[in-house]
Amino acid sequence: MMVKFAKERPIVCVQGLGFVGAAMSLAVASAVDKNGEPCFNVIGIDLPNSAGQEKVKALNNGRFPFETTDQNLIAAAKNVRLAKNFYATCDDKEFAKADIVVVDVNLDIYYDAQKQPYLNLSAFKKAMRTLGQRLKEDVLVMVETTVPPGTCEKVVKPVLEEEFRKRGLHTDKLKIAHSYERVMPGDYYFYSIINYWRVFSGVDDKSREACRAFLSKIINIADYPLTELKSTTASETAKVLENSYRATTIAFMEEWGRFAEAVGINMFDIVDAIRKRPTHSNMRQPGFGVGGYCLTKDPYFAKLAAKDLFHLDGFDFPFCSAAVRINNAMPLVSLEKIKSELGGNLHGKKILLLGISYKQDVGDTRYSPAEIFAKAAQEEGALMTYYDPMIRHWDEMQTDLPAELPDLRGYDAVVLTVCHGQFTTTDFVQKLAAAKTFIFDANHVLSAAQLAFLKNKNCRLRFIGRGDF
Ligand SMILES: NC(=O)c1ccc[n+]([C@@H]2O[C@H](COP(=O)([O-])OP(=O)(O)OC[C@H]3O[C@@H](n4cnc5c(N)ncnc54)[C@H](O)[C@@H]3O)[C@@H](O)[C@H]2O)c1
Repeated sequence: MMVKFAKERPIVCVQGLGFVGAAMSLAVASAVDKNGEPCFNVIGIDLPNSAGQEKVKALNNGRFPFETTDQNLIAAAKNVRLAKNFYATCDDKEFAKADIVVVDVNLDIYYDAQKQPYLNLSAFKKAMRTLGQRLKEDVLVMVETTVPPGTCEKVVKPVLEEEFRKRGLHTDKLKIAHSYERVMPGDYYFYSIINYWRVFSGVDDKSREACRAFLSKIINIADYPLTELKSTTASETAKVLENSYRATTIAFMEEWGRFAEAVGINMFDIVDAIRKRPTHSNMRQPGFGVGGYCLTKDPYFAKLAAKDLFHLDGFDFPFCSAAVRINNAMPLVSLEKIKSELGGNLHGKKILLLGISYKQDVGDTRYSPAEIFAKAAQEEGALMTYYDPMIRHWDEMQTDLPAELPDLRGYDAVVLTVCHGQFTTTDFVQKLAAAKTFIFDANHVLSAAQLAFLKNKNCRLRFIGRGDF
């Protein structure tokens, strides 16, 4: 479906309609001027495969293409359809219409047989080549994809310029910028794009200025002023450092959680006490593990960029590598504890996993710690059942999930892994108590009131991060 735009406006093409691009394209299409008029016409463009076509179809029907609890995003998908300033397509010829392109394609890390990470930029380069073959001379390309530091200067710019030259186009008007997403899927998915601080830079002054002007129309810069860095490499580094820092501080808590369990103290109380000190207010807690597309890969980007893009030796980033390794092993810590509670053998044991997405109130299972847990438990002969209020089909495990919370009776263990809203209700905790089964709270899901209720009912409980119950 190609909509005729209601009015002429600058055209923004968003390349990639995944978790970021689908939301970003709606945020750009929802940007209005002081008279309430849309600032841009937006074309969302994905690949012509079945997954791409599904996203395009959903958006063109006024639906956000992923399960979401965010009513603003659901409303934005409907509103832009009514305003006739947005459509989605799988036809890359549409890039020729763009005044601005926002790049939101994925850039994955690959692993060799020894599980060592390596870069393969071929899909990303192909995406850039498509742009180079279609775009007009005077265009801003703003990369939001998380990329290895150096990518805009060493990959995006040369590829675009090469393709421009092949078409006899000048390259002096081409503008290339980087500004990374901090979007947070969940209840504030949409607002986390427009009401949040942004870092940006460009490969030269004109690119930086064009990027600033564009972002200023979309983001609430009165409350969240933009932060300009001096180069795209600096902006790209900011993103991967930001996520590496988070992944590392989470990994750091794993050994403290195990210590708390072993000596009978509560690490969550301890962290709360420490968080009162302003310098430590964002201290992390022990948990079930780290998942999602970003924190599981981004800590490797600096190491790989140093080697492949800057050809430097001696930048192994051992903290970052250790963080990913520890985070990946976290779900197995839960598994080991459950196994020992169930007599040291999981064979034939019925385990119900409550929550398979990587984050609360988010329907995204990519690199979820639940997958690591589930695969290892299955290998040990456990009989697994899964439920997640946000997910009906678990792609990675090739299994369908029930639409309603299953009967909690009859399991050897019920494992709570994600703090979805449904698991915080009184109704849920009543069902949990009535089930009279072993409960393992792997992620600080149950509240103090719920725990008091379960204790009163003599339920058998164990935790990650506390040994005091
Ligand atoms: N998911 C998050 O919460 C989040 C947050 C901040 C940053 N990021 C970063 O944003 C980027 C995108 O993440 P995502 O979660 O949206 O990934 P995603 O895999 O959900 O989406 C990527 C989309 O790009 C499409 N695509 C790939 N190549 C294309 C091409 N050549 N032309 C058109 N479309 C193409 C894919 O089909 C897919 O739909 C990543 O770099 C990620 O690290 C993600």
